[in-house]
Amino acid sequence: MTESTTTEPVDIRATREAYDRMAELYTRRFANALAAEPFDRAMLGVFTELVQADGGGPVADIGCGPGRITTHLDALGLDVFGIDLSPEMIRLARAARPDLRYEVGTMEALPLGEGALSGLVAWYSIIHLPPERVPGMLAEFARVLCVGGRLLMAFQTTDVGLDLQPHDHKVTRSYRWSVSRVEELLRPCGFEVMAQLLRAPEPESAYGAGYLIATRVDRG
Ligand SMILES: C[S@@+](CC[C@H](N)C(=O)[O-])C[C@H]1O[C@@H](n2cnc3c(N)ncnc32)[C@H](O)[C@@H]1O
Repeated sequence: MTESTTTEPVDIRATREAYDRMAELYTRRFANALAAEPFDRAMLGVFTELVQADGGGPVADIGCGPGRITTHLDALGLDVFGIDLSPEMIRLARAARPDLRYEVGTMEALPLGEGALSGLVAWYSIIHLPPERVPGMLAEFARVLCVGGRLLMAFQTTDVGLDLQPHDHKVTRSYRWSVSRVEELLRPCGFEVMAQLLRAPEPESAYGAGYLIATRVDRG
């Protein structure tokens, strides 16, 4: 597993420290959020059905935080484990569900072998990576997924007409992406996009959400 080192990028240390500080608050704030998010549940359900129809297999929840999505996918019947940059998030996730596997790690260098996964979920977790490092992260997702494996991502979306913009995130620096820009980045990394969903902003929010389901295809 990746541990804090003096050579890691400054943004990674900042993100880890910010989530370590906010972990308890975040856990309480979002504990029951999924119950009020039908689009989230729908996309997680479609992803689950696709992985199960392919015969199941290991699924990683990358940037799992306190594990609210990991536990939801477990309840839906997936063989799922969580990885997160923040040791404090992982401590809370393990405390809540000692029977599930949670590890500290970074999405840019996953502690997983080539083709190890049948599915990978990145749920509002790619938003903190500096945009120039997102293609490398997607290539890392492609490396650990088997051919035919499924990727599900959710993220805050940009205002109309923009590909990318800073996001006024309460925890640490982050970015909003357009669904079409992320889709463009996925293709050269060996993904074929199956479905995308754009959810409009809700009344109390300034931005909407984008969801993408993609399949890992053979580049050869
Ligand atoms: C907005 S929270 C989302 C947490 C969880 N997916 C959820 O929906 O509740 C973002 C999470 O991504 C993690 N994260 C951010 N950058 C990461 C990275 N480079 N590698 C692994 N995890 C990361 C953070 O520590 C944090 O727990």
